[in-house]
Amino acid sequence: MGEALGDWKRTCYCGDLRAEHIDQEVTLMGWVNRRRDLGGLVFIDLRDREGIAQVVFNPKFSPGAHAKAASLRNEYVIAVQGKVVARPAGTENPELKTGQLEVQAEDLKVLSESNPPPFAIDEDAEVAETLRLKYRYLDLRRPKMQRNLILRDRAARSVRDYLHSHGFLEIETPFLTKSTPEGARDYLVPSRVTPGQFYALPQSPQLFKQLLMISGFERYFQIVKCFRDEDLRADRQPEFTQIDIEMSFIDRENIYSIMEGMMQALLRDTLGLPLATPFPRLTYEESMARYGVDNPDIRFGLEMKDVTETLKNTAFKVFAETIHRGGAVKALKVQGNLSRKDLDEFNEQARELGAKGLTWIKIGADEWSGPIAKFLSQEERAALREVWQLTPEDIILFIADSPQVVNDVMGRLRLRLGKQLGLIPEGIFSFVWITNFPLLEYDEAEGRFTAKHHPFTSPLDEDLPMLSDTPERVRAKAYDLVLNGSEVGGGSLRIYRREVQSLLFEKLGINPEEAKKKFGFLLEALEFGAPPHGGIAFGFDRLVMILAGTESIRDVIAFPKTQKAIDLLTEAPSAVDGRQLAELSLRVMAPK
Ligand code: AMO
Ligand code: AMP
Repeated sequence: MGEALGDWKRTCYCGDLRAEHIDQEVTLMGWVNRRRDLGGLVFIDLRDREGIAQVVFNPKFSPGAHAKAASLRNEYVIAVQGKVVARPAGTENPELKTGQLEVQAEDLKVLSESNPPPFAIDEDAEVAETLRLKYRYLDLRRPKMQRNLILRDRAARSVRDYLHSHGFLEIETPFLTKSTPEGARDYLVPSRVTPGQFYALPQSPQLFKQLLMISGFERYFQIVKCFRDEDLRADRQPEFTQIDIEMSFIDRENIYSIMEGMMQALLRDTLGLPLATPFPRLTYEESMARYGVDNPDIRFGLEMKDVTETLKNTAFKVFAETIHRGGAVKALKVQGNLSRKDLDEFNEQARELGAKGLTWIKIGADEWSGPIAKFLSQEERAALREVWQLTPEDIILFIADSPQVVNDVMGRLRLRLGKQLGLIPEGIFSFVWITNFPLLEYDEAEGRFTAKHHPFTSPLDEDLPMLSDTPERVRAKAYDLVLNGSEVGGGSLRIYRREVQSLLFEKLGINPEEAKKKFGFLLEALEFGAPPHGGIAFGFDRLVMILAGTESIRDVIAFPKTQKAIDLLTEAPSAVDGRQLAELSLRVMAPK
């Protein structure tokens, strides 16, 4: 049984004790981080949100409090009254911000006892993630998690302040909304009142923010939950948070510069770091050519080169045949002491990543060596020299395959090599805009075009004529913001003319009747004076994850789900009873 707080009032946080508190009487409250009994003295490390303070219980000083302190265990919640003193010389702890001080306890209240925690609430203890998630409330007591969530709060505040000061209004949009095709799989919510019908949880507020522009709000934002039933990865959650933004009467340049300012404010307010603007830009095409991906990590070079033209008649059959079948050959130049074993390993990795193989040449002072050196003619060697300015010890890695496979495998290999060769500098924030995405992509499985971003994205004006005959070549006014190789945001200018929107639905194989049924409200709204508008949404969790320097999105979300979309703390999802199902007119099929 815990004691009552009575009229005790906390005077400051443990972590906020400083030299100016010396000789003051303080009341601290928090959790017992550690207790040590030393020759009659009891030392308690008392922990709260802001840090740790050392409390000393001396039997000479206050025998009652000292006797009580002997019963304290880790994670008990206590309140202590006492005087702040400087620690005796030689006992200071430079690791702690409060390490020069301690509190000489005069009185103690045990407010709440604790079972022994299932893991140490310690900075460095390595704990299985399933256990952390089951006892998330304890995991969140750990200093690292406290720091992450405090950082998240700062980040949200920075964004809100910035957007408010730039004339944006925070407007909420519904969670119970309409399922629309395209995009990821929806989370559905059955309607009780209209049996057999369903709401969908929003994958993003996309259509609502466009409607708000039609309503004349000019500048909207929201820090908002989005729900997508997709396969999860380290940087994806089924429910995640976006900084969602939309503006009227703007072009892409306005959006880039306002968002660059927001990122500047964010880095300043969270980490106190400067950030240079404008950010570099790459078209989608350049990004694919140089990095093989649309989310390039440009903190390091190691760019790939297309050597298809150079090697199209080469004596190395694998390359020549691949090229004649419409494939491509791309190459990376690496420097450094790579052994035969390293190179065999790269070959192995390339195969693992889905290529048929990887081969290499090593540039020597006189001779080139490696599996394909003997096949390369003088002209081919000269051409390769031209690509890179080769010097002895350089090694060129080649992959031949369909352009997609080459880009995909070499793009991922580039990242691995960057890590392995120590090319990626730590502690820098490297933003790049990727622009002019293709409007459409062909979905082999569905046998039709789908929107690369979403079906409300405007084509480039100059590409619009190609929409009827070569839709795959049409580029969009769409952009992503990439930070250190992670897609942290994406957006576009929208279609604001009904006839263009109808044409695009047609290209997506959505017939007018279906378009009316699914998106009728939008098509109709476009006929009541829609301003030119556009926007962007940032993955807030991903941004905070990168700012916090952690590898997992779950480390910056208070109550995340596992890769199987399970909440281990509350054990959701779970079965519901028959009455609830009956109310919703639902029957569950036996699970397969
Ligand atoms: P998009 O689908 O690109 O655009 O999403 C915007 C950003 O949200 C983040 N994100 C995710 N983060 C965590 N878990 C997920 N499952 C997840 N899915 C996406 C990414 C991404 O860049 N309505 C449009 C935006 C617009 O056009 O304005 C949209 O949602 O960082
Ligand atoms: P092989 O002729 O299959 O013995 O291959 C000779 C070398 O070329 C080996 O190192 C293979 O890994 C490599 N190789 C095979 N296919 C490809 C490819 N598509 N692209 C690059 N290297 C390849």
